[in-house]
Amino acid sequence: MKLILLAAPGAGKGTQAEKLCEHFGIPSISTGAILRKNIKDGTELGKIAKTYIDDGKLIPDDIMIKVMDARLAEDDCKNGFILDGFPRTLAQAEKLDESDIKIDYVLNIDVPDEVIIDRLSGRLECPKCGTTFHIEHRKPKVDGICDNCGGKLTCREDDKPETVKSRLNVYHTQTEPLIEYYASKGMLRTAKGQNEIADTTVEVLKALGE
Ligand code: AP5
Repeated sequence: MKLILLAAPGAGKGTQAEKLCEHFGIPSISTGAILRKNIKDGTELGKIAKTYIDDGKLIPDDIMIKVMDARLAEDDCKNGFILDGFPRTLAQAEKLDESDIKIDYVLNIDVPDEVIIDRLSGRLECPKCGTTFHIEHRKPKVDGICDNCGGKLTCREDDKPETVKSRLNVYHTQTEPLIEYYASKGMLRTAKGQNEIADTTVEVLKALGE
């Protein structure tokens, strides 16, 4: 299975990608996680990415395409993958089309903006392993501690209300047009994502014919 997850920031792509990884036994590739790791490690890519992420803007297409060309050529992608955060612009989608990678489905997780604002204002993330939690909807077993690796949970810098506003604007202008792009190719599946996490997983699997 080669799958693209297409959704607004905070719609639950990362959360559903975790479930789909388990279900299909394939890796999930989060562009945001790759960029945040580079920022943490102080690489050249990380230094460039930080200036855009802090403003809620997208990293330039040429940089992102190079990063993903390298990542998708790695061995663990041979039997399939879930793309969480790529493509995000028409230019990125067209580049992917030009490659020899054949995508099976593009899944849009549909969530209204007002739900997204609530989710991102309560998100907690483990800086060590990247697992996400929510102060109400997905509480860690022990307050402030990651269930997965015991890391100390933090809030993401780009979840500040003014940055979330900018990320949503960027989504509506630059990423949302991909819904029509993939619908016209007959590749689009849609799942409603405004309900609880487990209910959304059921919707997601149903949309994929599972
Ligand atoms: P990225 O990390 O991909 O951020 P994003 O797309 O903004 O998505 P998020 O990770 O914020 O949200 P999500 O949909 O995964 O939601 P989650 O599952 O955590 O990218 C960050 C930045 O990197 C971008 O802004 C850009 O600058 C750059 N970038 C990345 N890719 C790029 C590209 N291709 N080109 C250029 N630049 C790029 O859920 C959110 C919260 O809600 C969590 O707390 C979760 O527990 C909770 N939750 C989830 N589902 C539910 C539910 N059903 N009910 C209740 N709560 C829920």
